[in-house]
Amino acid sequence: MLQAHMSVTTIQQLTEIMIIPCFSLHRKLASLHRAVGAVRWRSSYRPAPLLTAAPARALIDEQISIKGRFLPPHCPVTVCARMHSEDDDLWEAFAHYNTNADGTVNLTKDHSVGGSYLGCEPMGLFWGLQPAPGAREGLRLRKKNVEIPYVVHMSLLEGHVSPGEGQSTELAAVTTERWYTAPGVKRIKIRQNGIVGTLFLPPGPGPFPAMLDLWGMGGALVEYRSALFASRGYASLSIAYIGHKELPGPQNRINVGASYFNSAFDLLRDHRQVCADRVGIIGLSFGVYLALRIATETGAKPSCLICINGPIGSAIRLSDADGRTENFEGQQKYWTYNDQGHVSFRDISLPANLPPESKVKLENLACPLMYIVGEDDLSASSIENANLIEETLRAADKSQLFTRLSYPGAGHLIEPPYSPNSRISLWSVKPKKLITLWGGHLAPHAAAQEDAWKKILDFMENNLRR
Ligand SMILES: *[C@@H]1O[C@H](CO)[C@@H](O)[C@H](O)[C@H]1NC(C)=O
Repeated sequence: MLQAHMSVTTIQQLTEIMIIPCFSLHRKLASLHRAVGAVRWRSSYRPAPLLTAAPARALIDEQISIKGRFLPPHCPVTVCARMHSEDDDLWEAFAHYNTNADGTVNLTKDHSVGGSYLGCEPMGLFWGLQPAPGAREGLRLRKKNVEIPYVVHMSLLEGHVSPGEGQSTELAAVTTERWYTAPGVKRIKIRQNGIVGTLFLPPGPGPFPAMLDLWGMGGALVEYRSALFASRGYASLSIAYIGHKELPGPQNRINVGASYFNSAFDLLRDHRQVCADRVGIIGLSFGVYLALRIATETGAKPSCLICINGPIGSAIRLSDADGRTENFEGQQKYWTYNDQGHVSFRDISLPANLPPESKVKLENLACPLMYIVGEDDLSASSIENANLIEETLRAADKSQLFTRLSYPGAGHLIEPPYSPNSRISLWSVKPKKLITLWGGHLAPHAAAQEDAWKKILDFMENNLRR
C-alpha cells in the first residue's frame, strides 16, 4: 500500500513538467493559493491522482466500480485497460472521460465521449477489450486455466489519447483480478465410463442442484462456464466430445456415440453430492442439439434446458452402433462466404437444410426450456430454430414450457457477462485456414450477455432450487 502510494506520488512529480493546458492551469491556480499563505496552502493541497477499482478481486460476472479522484475539475482523461491472455496476446480497451467539477470520474455514472465505447458503460473497459493493434488475426478471448484469474491493468492517462499511439502520461494505475472460480470451489477431473470431463463443485458438502454444460463443434474441454456455475452454487459438469486428445481420434470428428452424452448426464445425476432430481442442461450451438436429444430421446429427465443459439437437428449423426460420425467438412455445401472470405455456417442449420430424421422429437419435451437468440447470429439459424421449437411445442399443447429471450445486435457466442465478443475468429488452420463469422456488435452483444446471464441464473433458481 505504502509502496503503491509512493509510486503514484512519483508519477505526480514527473507530471510537474507537463504542459497540457488544463493541468498546468490548475497548477498555476494552486500555486497562487500557495502564495496567499500557509493556511490556504493546506486547504488547497490536492493529493496525487488516484484510480480505484472495487472490489479489486471479483468473479467475472460481478460489476466493479472504477473511479478516478484528486484530478483537476473539467479535464480530459483517458481510462485504459490492458491484459495479456494465456496465449500472451495483448488485449486493450480505453475510454475518454471529462472529470466532474469535483475532479473525479466515476465509471458507474459518467459517460465516455470516445474510445472503445460511448456513453455510460460501467463495465465497458472489460467487454470492450480487443486485440491490441498488430495482434495475430482471428483472436477470441477464452479462459483456459480457470484456477488463475485474468489480471487486468487499468490506468488513468492525461488528456484524450489513444494508448499505444505516441506518448501518454500515466497519472495513476490499479490492477484488478477477474475470476471464474470462487474460493472453495472444487475442480475434479473426470475420466470415467469413457467420459472426458471436469466436474466443478461449490464449497460445502451438498447435495447441490447441477448443470451439464455442453459447448459446440469448436471442441476441447471448455471449463469456465461450469466453474462460474459452481461459484454460484451449482455442481456443473463440462464434457469434451470432439477435439480432445484423450477422446478416440481423429480429433476433427465426433467419435463418441449418443450414449456418451447420456452417460455424462447419468454420471452427474448419480454423483453423491448432486440432487438427482435437480439437474439441468445448458448448451450453446451444437450443444443445443445435444441437450435437446438428451431431454427428448433418452430416459434422462433433466429439470430444465437452456439453449443458446443452436439447432434442433444435425447432419452429423450420433450413432450408437459404432459411435462413428461424419466430419463437419461434409456440410460444405451450406457454407457461405463474405467479401473478405470469412465463412458463415449459418445456413447449415436452417430448418429446411436439417436432415428430417435428425430432428429431435420436441413434442416429447417434459421440462421448461429457455431459448436464447442472438439476432445477429451468423453461425446458426437461431431465430428459425427458435420459431420451430415454439411452433412444435404449441402444436403439442406445451407452450407453457417455452421461454424465448431475443437480443438485437447480439451474435452467436453469448457467454457469461463482461467478456468481449469476437465477431470473427480463427476456426481452423488445417486442412486450410478458415476465419469464421460469429456475428454480434460489441455494445449490444455485451448488453445481451449481461441480461441473459441474470435470466439464466433466475431460470436455474426457479427450476433447480425451488
Ligand atoms: C459512483 O456512482 C454511483 C452511481 O451514482 C454511486 O452509487 C457510487 O457511490 C459512486 N462511487 C463512488 C466511489 O463515489
